[in-house]
Amino acid sequence: MFNNHHYFIALLFLFFLSLIPRSTSLPPCIGLTYSAPTTSAPPPDTLPAQLSTLKINSLRLEDPDPTVIRTFLYTNVTLFLTVPNYLVPTMASNRSSTLRWLYTHVVPFYPRARITTISVGNAFLDSYPQSASSLLPAITNLHLSLRDLGIRKITVSTSFSFVTAISAPFPPSSAQFQEPPGVNLIGPLLQFLRDTNSSFLINVYPYNLYRLKSEIPLGIALFQEHPFNFRDDLVTGVRYRNLFDMMIDAVVSAMAVAGYESIPIIVTETGWPSASTAANEVEANPVYAEIYLKGLVKHLRSGIGTPLLKDGVKEVYVYEMFDKKEGSTSTTTATSSARSWGVLYANGSTKYSIDFSSSISNYLLEGSWINVALRVLLSSFLVLFLWI
Ligand SMILES: *[C@@H]1O[C@H](CO)[C@@H](O)[C@H](O)[C@H]1NC(C)=O
Ligand SMILES: *[C@@H]1O[C@H](CO)[C@@H](O)[C@H](O)[C@H]1NC(C)=O
Ligand SMILES: *[C@@H]1O[C@H](CO)[C@@H](O)[C@H](O)[C@H]1NC(C)=O
Ligand SMILES: *[C@@H]1O[C@H](CO)[C@@H](O)[C@H](O)[C@H]1NC(C)=O
Repeated sequence: MFNNHHYFIALLFLFFLSLIPRSTSLPPCIGLTYSAPTTSAPPPDTLPAQLSTLKINSLRLEDPDPTVIRTFLYTNVTLFLTVPNYLVPTMASNRSSTLRWLYTHVVPFYPRARITTISVGNAFLDSYPQSASSLLPAITNLHLSLRDLGIRKITVSTSFSFVTAISAPFPPSSAQFQEPPGVNLIGPLLQFLRDTNSSFLINVYPYNLYRLKSEIPLGIALFQEHPFNFRDDLVTGVRYRNLFDMMIDAVVSAMAVAGYESIPIIVTETGWPSASTAANEVEANPVYAEIYLKGLVKHLRSGIGTPLLKDGVKEVYVYEMFDKKEGSTSTTTATSSARSWGVLYANGSTKYSIDFSSSISNYLLEGSWINVALRVLLSSFLVLFLWI
């Protein structure tokens, strides 16, 4: 009954079993950005409790205050620190200034506070275009200072704004990096990221791109799936149904063109404002903001990644945790309007009903259920064959 012929078929089946594509991968972790608090904001020591209510386990700190870092000692919240832009030129020219920053923001807390990543500046080229040549030396100095302190697990990188970093983003396959004038930054930076197992950091605002380009339908920017809501990339033959994926794949394409395919991507900022003081920003409303955030979380949680990046981005930080009362401007555009980006109101009360948990347990349930079903089906075929 069990002859060589059947054995061969069994092996063939096993071989095909091993080829079953994994349709989903682990969803990225979803975090929030916490920036300079307003006077009305709840005190920092309430932050861990608030994050756990939102089911958020990662926090990105802009210009981090050591007392805020201290509140996360012995919690499971991972911290992403940002060196403020104004310090970057100093850090580039003076190693002792990087050490001093680390002695204030990292050494007293690490590893009891789970600091994972440090971004040297945020959209630095937008604020200090004349100092572009100091960016990579500052990154290298900070990295070397961490090594001097014996810290090997914190990675160092820098965040870019999408519109500054990427030229010709549509279709995504045509995207390339835009070098700052007169500086050879991107290639050496990507090489540094690869050498140090670090990630490429980028602020991705479909909101801003939608406002810049009138031909983009609102539904694509808001993760609304409708039969006629799509854009095709004729070069890759890929159909896009949301602007977020198009922007990520533009980054993936730009990296591939630069010769670096496998560098992980972290989205350091994304979001949708629920209000704006500018009269022409009618899309800045709480209904669209909630649709965007819910669509984003659902899409990330699905674990299906983007058409060109099957594993998806590594982490996504929603901008931002609290509304600022006044004077808040987008970090990526030069408008002077005040926008409300917060997931929570400035006083800390809830604005939307969104469950931010990356839902890894649900993922495992769904993912393994499909896998098991497939395997059971194929195994039954196998048993049938063996019995023939
Ligand atoms: C952190 O995670 C560990 C293991 O997952 C758990 O035992 C511990 O209770 C968590 N600590 C806090 C403060 O949530
Ligand atoms: C380097 O930075 C340290 C500490 O910030 C400061 O004391 C020193 O004067 C700086 N050196 C130079 C050459 O700027
Ligand atoms: C990068 O990661 C790989 C695999 O995880 C590891 O073998 C290598 O030592 C790491 N390199 C550095 C510089 O941390
Ligand atoms: C917090 O602020 C929001 C928006 O300004 C307001 O609707 C809400 O009533 C405030 N909540 C408390 C507890 O003050």
